[in-house]
Amino acid sequence: MTLLIVGSGGREHAIGWALSQDRRVKQLWFAPGNAGTAALGENVPLPATDRAGLVAWCQRQRPDLVVVGPEAPLCAGLVDDLAAVGVPAFGPGKAGARLEASKIFTKELLRKAGVPTADSERFTDRAAARAYCAAQHYPLVIKADGLAAGKGVIIAQSLAEADAALEQIMAQKVFGAAGDSVLIEEFLPGQEASIHAVTDGADYVLLPTAQDHKRIRDNDEGPNTGGMGAYAPAPIVSDELLATIEQTIIRPVIGALRDAGIDYRGVLYAGLMLTPQGPKVLEFNCRFGDPETEVLLPLLATPLLDLLLATVERRIGRLRFELKTGSALTVVLAAPGYPEKPVTGQVIHGLPGASPLLFHAGTTRGADGTVTVSGGRVLAATGVGPDLRAARRQAYKIAADIRFDGRQYRLDIGKKALDLPARGA
Ligand code: AMP
Ligand code: GLY
Repeated sequence: MTLLIVGSGGREHAIGWALSQDRRVKQLWFAPGNAGTAALGENVPLPATDRAGLVAWCQRQRPDLVVVGPEAPLCAGLVDDLAAVGVPAFGPGKAGARLEASKIFTKELLRKAGVPTADSERFTDRAAARAYCAAQHYPLVIKADGLAAGKGVIIAQSLAEADAALEQIMAQKVFGAAGDSVLIEEFLPGQEASIHAVTDGADYVLLPTAQDHKRIRDNDEGPNTGGMGAYAPAPIVSDELLATIEQTIIRPVIGALRDAGIDYRGVLYAGLMLTPQGPKVLEFNCRFGDPETEVLLPLLATPLLDLLLATVERRIGRLRFELKTGSALTVVLAAPGYPEKPVTGQVIHGLPGASPLLFHAGTTRGADGTVTVSGGRVLAATGVGPDLRAARRQAYKIAADIRFDGRQYRLDIGKKALDLPARGA
């Protein structure tokens, strides 16, 4: 088989790595890929957002399957465009991707389906939003409605901070049109968990539970990022809690999408807050998480290709789906200045001979063979082991051998899980 993977992050490298293990896979293309994906296949110089270019390329090359990594092309309707020219693709169409593209659409769907989520109100008028904020308890969460690369969420500790957030989102439009309307919602306390279901619109399978680390610095301090590390499975999600999540969140949402007439095939990634009142939805994503994918795929026993094809061909109900035992943990190595203003261009040392689970994100290979930093998140060093402690040791060992100027990474990935009391204690 021949496959095109759209995207250029650690997620896409991990997808490519998993597929490259499969003898049935004869050719992998990446658009646009990175220095890591170039070693697994061929990088095609088309950005993930060049819909017309990607469709034209697919019409010429006729890949057997396209796997769309990031949300932007999914939300723009790349999968619909490919379907229109007879090229099968993994991921929801534009209608389904609204689950990620519009927080307001999702809130409404959740409300109708009775799925637990933070209470919220929507505003398009700044004065009305401000008046509402004046009557609330703090902290309070202010969200731009549209896509804002994970940065459109502000947790305000006071009315003054809420006001400043409204000014930035609604007046200065720092997130562009994503801020035409805002959602103001109650602050939910607790730990977060990432739940990935892969669904064909009727049936689904669950990937291991995972936990991301969104803040730039240890102890969850500093600004939000795309994710600085992850591990799976997340011991905070007990089997019992997972059963509750399936029953109160995953199944009702798949049902609600179907009831809305949406043909949702792909990843349904629920970002949850595990509150004292039970699991509640923070957000939905219509794609694999990054860096979660880097820890989920090494734990699949079923070949990824089988899962992708069963999804696209609507036969997940007949798929024999199995996970490996053990744990995986990934540590993101980021550029200096990330997330605000990443500094790029530095040469990366220590790559030759590195683990195949050192997934590349913001890396570029020059004509002379040197690999340099070209993005905020640079590499994801992934360890796999019989337990989380072993996986963690391995991930940090891989990370320590990689050097570039200004390299930053968190030292506490997985710490929350290791600090938990043992099960049954
Ligand atoms: P989102 O893009 O909606 O996932 O939000 C990004 C991050 O903001 C989440 O991962 C949480 O850490 C935080 N967050 C979002 N909504 C809430 C909420 N209602 N209560 C507490 N934290 C939140
Ligand atoms: N890990 C967060 C995300 O992929 O959105």
